[in-house]
Amino acid sequence: MEKAVILTISFFLLTFYCLVSLVSSVDTLRHGDSLNSSASLVSANKVFTLGFYKLEDTNNYLGIWYTDSYSDYPVWLGNREKPIMDNSGILTISSAGKLIITSNRSDPIELYAGGNGTNITATLLNSGNFVVREMNINGSAGRSLWESFDYPTDTLIPGMKLGVNHRTGRSWSLTSWFGENNPASGIFTLEWDPARHRLIVKQRGLVLWTSGDLKNYTDENSRLNVKEFENIVMKPDVFNFTYVSNGEEDYFSYSLIIDPKLTSEHRKTISLLRLKFNGDIYDIDNQTMAQVRLCYRDNIKGCELWEQPSCRNLNDSFVRKSGHFANGDGSQPIAESAYDKDDNASLTEIDCRDNCWKDCECVGFSSGDAYGCSYWKGKNLTFVQSYDGSEPKQFVLVSEASNKIESSAKRWKTWKIITLVITVVALLLGCVWFIIRKIEQGKRKEKELRELMTLEEYTETHTVESDGGQGHHLRLFTYSSIVRATGSFSSTNKLGEGGFGSVYKGETVEGQKIAVKVLSQRSRQGLVEFETELRLISQIQHVNLVKLLGYCKDRDEKMIIYDYMPNKSLDFYLFCEYRLFPTLYYTFSSYSEVFRK
Ligand SMILES: *[C@@H]1O[C@H](CO)[C@@H](O)[C@H](O)[C@H]1NC(C)=O
Ligand SMILES: *[C@@H]1O[C@H](CO)[C@@H](O)[C@H](O)[C@H]1NC(C)=O
Ligand SMILES: *[C@@H]1O[C@H](CO)[C@@H](O)[C@H](O)[C@H]1NC(C)=O
Ligand SMILES: *[C@@H]1O[C@H](CO)[C@@H](O)[C@H](O)[C@H]1NC(C)=O
Ligand SMILES: *[C@@H]1O[C@H](CO)[C@@H](O)[C@H](O)[C@H]1NC(C)=O
Ligand SMILES: *[C@@H]1O[C@H](CO)[C@@H](O)[C@H](O)[C@H]1NC(C)=O
Ligand SMILES: *[C@@H]1O[C@H](CO)[C@@H](O)[C@H](O)[C@H]1NC(C)=O
Ligand SMILES: *[C@@H]1O[C@H](CO)[C@@H](O)[C@H](O)[C@H]1NC(C)=O
Ligand SMILES: *[C@@H]1O[C@H](CO)[C@@H](O)[C@H](O)[C@H]1NC(C)=O
Ligand SMILES: *[C@@H]1O[C@H](CO)[C@@H](O)[C@H](O)[C@H]1NC(C)=O
Ligand SMILES: *[C@@H]1O[C@H](CO)[C@@H](O)[C@H](O)[C@H]1NC(C)=O
Repeated sequence: MEKAVILTISFFLLTFYCLVSLVSSVDTLRHGDSLNSSASLVSANKVFTLGFYKLEDTNNYLGIWYTDSYSDYPVWLGNREKPIMDNSGILTISSAGKLIITSNRSDPIELYAGGNGTNITATLLNSGNFVVREMNINGSAGRSLWESFDYPTDTLIPGMKLGVNHRTGRSWSLTSWFGENNPASGIFTLEWDPARHRLIVKQRGLVLWTSGDLKNYTDENSRLNVKEFENIVMKPDVFNFTYVSNGEEDYFSYSLIIDPKLTSEHRKTISLLRLKFNGDIYDIDNQTMAQVRLCYRDNIKGCELWEQPSCRNLNDSFVRKSGHFANGDGSQPIAESAYDKDDNASLTEIDCRDNCWKDCECVGFSSGDAYGCSYWKGKNLTFVQSYDGSEPKQFVLVSEASNKIESSAKRWKTWKIITLVITVVALLLGCVWFIIRKIEQGKRKEKELRELMTLEEYTETHTVESDGGQGHHLRLFTYSSIVRATGSFSSTNKLGEGGFGSVYKGETVEGQKIAVKVLSQRSRQGLVEFETELRLISQIQHVNLVKLLGYCKDRDEKMIIYDYMPNKSLDFYLFCEYRLFPTLYYTFSSYSEVFRK
């Protein structure tokens, strides 16, 4: 009992503590404060968070990220070249007034090393800029001494600058990561060219790609004046690129367009441009804005074509596959001469790729982060792919033709599946449609028939206008009158029998000879036939055709009453008519067959 109370109280205390610690998230580090690897600073608008960013289990970096997207790459890293290998990292303002990261590693990492004892604070601003400022005597923040925006990594966010400050000599540029999971400085840089108002991607200092000149662009719909580059694929309703060029500074920057038509929840509030390790420029939605990655072999928009080795087909490319290289017959291990290793740790995957591309003998390579490159050379080498992915991944040169075959095989497979699905769905829909139609048809026919039948049913001999005024009179015979005429359907009066039912001859009280066709009750066919015959025959009464006198309906019994012509063969007439009225011929031939018996 007591235990339960204690547990409940501690639960509430814990919840309260958590809530308080959430609410009281701070954006500022003061003199003597420190931030360990499980704590963080959050900007006042809650958009940005600063803390220790875990990249792999062991690597910790002081980083800034969009609060809502920790899982994506961070927008800034403070110690990209010197990861902390455990969770011992602490960000602190030292007593000497330095902003440093201490850890169980030997050396502290100095971010702001000014340190002449000035009272300083470090604040994560709403823009995502982490600034170190002098503290005034009255406790307000004074002049800025250091800011993270001056040390960009691979990401540009709104408000950051690319360019140069002529007074201080400081220049701002982005430097790509070394590899996909290694934030150390890589080989690509994104810089601002103030002379031509354009962005430039350089690879190891050589111009690889340019954005084209910044130009004015007016969106007719929104009436917003925005600026864009010709070689950047982007949504012009999002970015507002600007540049400033005055005596002191030449820089490029961008902001998000505040479209007044959009409500605040639909307005984009966060954004970034990232220079990936392979030279591509990405936006926050992971969309490629510039495909610099393929510049090594092809003339992508904006690529400054370097000289291409004549032995290469520009359509070939490297594809990452699990497996190993073998001699032509696939069995023997490859000769030592076919394998070349370069241990130079400063070579990135992109360097390995470029080196392999330039070497006409090279058919594939592999690269580990900072382990150099391995190349496979020789036209006789084949790649043995491991489809379960158990073997290490290699980059294999693949010709476009085989690429196409592979992808077209894939496409063919996809198409087969899609076609099958569509066919099945179409068949199902067709069946459903057919059934519905049948039901509706049946209903309609029954209704029409019922209307036809219910016309003054039990009048002895009544004339019915059946076809909208063409003057073909149909008589409705009562059941009793038919019974009387055919002698209760006696077998002596039976003329014959067919699939549709039986035919009897008879004589009305007026002395008129008639033939009575009793439609079979068994099948629906009888109903349809009844309707068809009535309709057709009443419409096409002809002197030479057997005459329809009328019909009779009694509960489920349906009968058609014809004029009985014992002395005439109908064949003569029918032979002449059937070409014109095959349906009619069919109906009558069964009738005349019966007659001939
Ligand atoms: C970080 O500091 C908080 C208090 O500020 C403490 O409770 C926590 O245990 C610390 N974490 C580490 C990993 O040292
Ligand atoms: C750092 O090292 C000290 C002793 O050298 C150890 O007590 C502490 O747990 C370590 N911190 C971390 C986070 O590993
Ligand atoms: C050192 O402190 C003096 C005031 O004592 C200040 O004027 C100066 O700017 C400080 N230097 C740095 C690098 O912060
Ligand atoms: C604090 O002092 C600085 C100059 O030292 C002054 O510019 C600022 O206005 C003062 N702030 C307040 C709130 O008094
Ligand atoms: C720094 O300034 C704050 C506020 O004015 C004050 O509380 C603190 O003692 C000062 N620290 C030092 C080392 O001067
Ligand atoms: C873009 O257009 C605005 C307004 O039309 C103009 O003031 C500005 O100078 C133009 N900028 C460039 C780079 O053409
Ligand atoms: C683009 O940015 C400039 C400078 O920040 C600003 O003056 C302009 O109003 C912005 N344009 C739009 C459409 O947001
Ligand atoms: C971005 O795309 C890459 C590859 O296309 C993928 O590996 C990565 O997970 C994506 N990131 C996000 C945040 O969608
Ligand atoms: C590359 O492919 C394109 C289209 O598939 C083709 O027109 C071109 O000739 C190819 N180039 C080479 C060098 O084979
Ligand atoms: C390693 O490769 C880089 C880039 O190609 C080159 O600048 C450097 O000289 C190489 N180092 C050695 C030791 O070969
Ligand atoms: C490549 O293979 C062919 C036959 O498979 C052989 O004649 C030729 O000598 C081989 N070339 C090399 C360099 O091994």
